[in-house]
Amino acid sequence: MNKQITSALLLFFLGISITGIAQKKEKINAIYSGIPWHDNKGNVVSAHGAGLIKDNNKYYLFGEYKSDSTIDFTGFSCYSSSDLYNWKFEKIALPVQESGKLGPNRIGERPKVMKCPKTGEYIMYMHTDDLKYKDQCLGYATSKTINGVYTFQGALLFNGEPIKKWDMGIFQDTDGSGYVIAHSGNLYKLSDDYKSVTEQIVKDMTKHCEAPVIFKKDNIYFWLGSGLTSWERNDNYYFTAASLKGPWKSHENFAPKDSLTWNSQSTFVLPIVGTKDTTYLFGGDRWAFPRQKAAATYVWQPLVVKGDSISLPDYKENWQINTTTGEWSNLTLKGTIIRNSDTGKIKYSDNWKTESVITDSFLDSSSNVKGAFFSVNFNGSQIGLYGVARPNGGYAQVEIKDHNGKTIQSNLIEMYCKHPESSLKYLSPILKKGDYKLIVTVVGEHGNWYKKDGTGFGSTGNFVSVDKIIVK
Ligand code: DGJ
Repeated sequence: MNKQITSALLLFFLGISITGIAQKKEKINAIYSGIPWHDNKGNVVSAHGAGLIKDNNKYYLFGEYKSDSTIDFTGFSCYSSSDLYNWKFEKIALPVQESGKLGPNRIGERPKVMKCPKTGEYIMYMHTDDLKYKDQCLGYATSKTINGVYTFQGALLFNGEPIKKWDMGIFQDTDGSGYVIAHSGNLYKLSDDYKSVTEQIVKDMTKHCEAPVIFKKDNIYFWLGSGLTSWERNDNYYFTAASLKGPWKSHENFAPKDSLTWNSQSTFVLPIVGTKDTTYLFGGDRWAFPRQKAAATYVWQPLVVKGDSISLPDYKENWQINTTTGEWSNLTLKGTIIRNSDTGKIKYSDNWKTESVITDSFLDSSSNVKGAFFSVNFNGSQIGLYGVARPNGGYAQVEIKDHNGKTIQSNLIEMYCKHPESSLKYLSPILKKGDYKLIVTVVGEHGNWYKKDGTGFGSTGNFVSVDKIIVK
């Protein structure tokens, strides 16, 4: 082959690979809490009340595939990831059934999957209920493969009777025994095939304790749970014991008081076991009722476990975990900061009004006026919004338009929290470097909800806040 042809071919192949690299979608490089996550198809990841499980070197996330308009069961989703940052939508692992406990007009919550060591089958457990939460019952479904469509098998039975409980979790001990945990401090041991309960290990240990989670470090068992406040977040607490049978020692909250568990409710703790360390990954839900599909987010934090005490001492907006070594590290989001007072760069609509009765010390700018907005023109590949969530916070519509004015990204985010907190509220997917416009609009809606006893919760206003913008 002559030299010219060889170099032409080389250039051709180089050209292909260079184009390939340039077109390769950039990956997310951290675990971000409190912001919408996007899956491989660009849709918001919807897997709430979730369980996380490692299988064959991949992580699988099963959760409630929420809706923005109804509380009815709309299926359980399954996503997979090898780095815990980038999620592939696998499928709806358990769709709405034609009839029965997970049929139309029913509740399905908190799916958790375990692999049965004896049969090799994957078993999914969940809470089933009627729309008034008055027909609670734990159920299970099975699949031969982790990411298959699960077959709903009905109620999980104990002495031939259904277990009439709502919030639930699972635990697999180091000897392969499986357990199901239910609200109010109830723990059940599963049969060898994981398809029924053989024994109640703990009975009514505590009055409340929803969203129960058990994990083990060394020879100590940790049992986490939340207060009973519907979709409202509260200060979650925990118990410890040397044996699952107890005695269980009661501890108070593991995140700072009034942080409301960094504005989340527990749903799992997964030890990420590596060659050098183990990170105990706390998974929590930041509910955003009623817009749970678009605006509910995830609060995933590295749990500090020392002896028989656990803590989440500070809120990590973004952090990294090495799934090979098991080590985690802090990550600072770097970029150009634009303060809310920089009206050269942030253009507020005339009706954007800053709240004058705010008593906290945050220096953000906020508006309660439906349709009020601000926009920022930027050149870069990613943009983030920091804001303050308050008891009067509502929903914001966040849009990114390209240089032709075409909307290329649209998200709904929520800015409600019972105690004011300031943090990252939105981070765009990574875009091709270029000129864009970010537009954030006050939707004029907020969430309200009621506890089973009728107590009301939720926001008192529709405020949207901007502390600062970050451009990368
Ligand atoms: C609190 C539970 O933890 C959630 O899973 C859900 O059932 C809500 N209550 C419903 O109000």
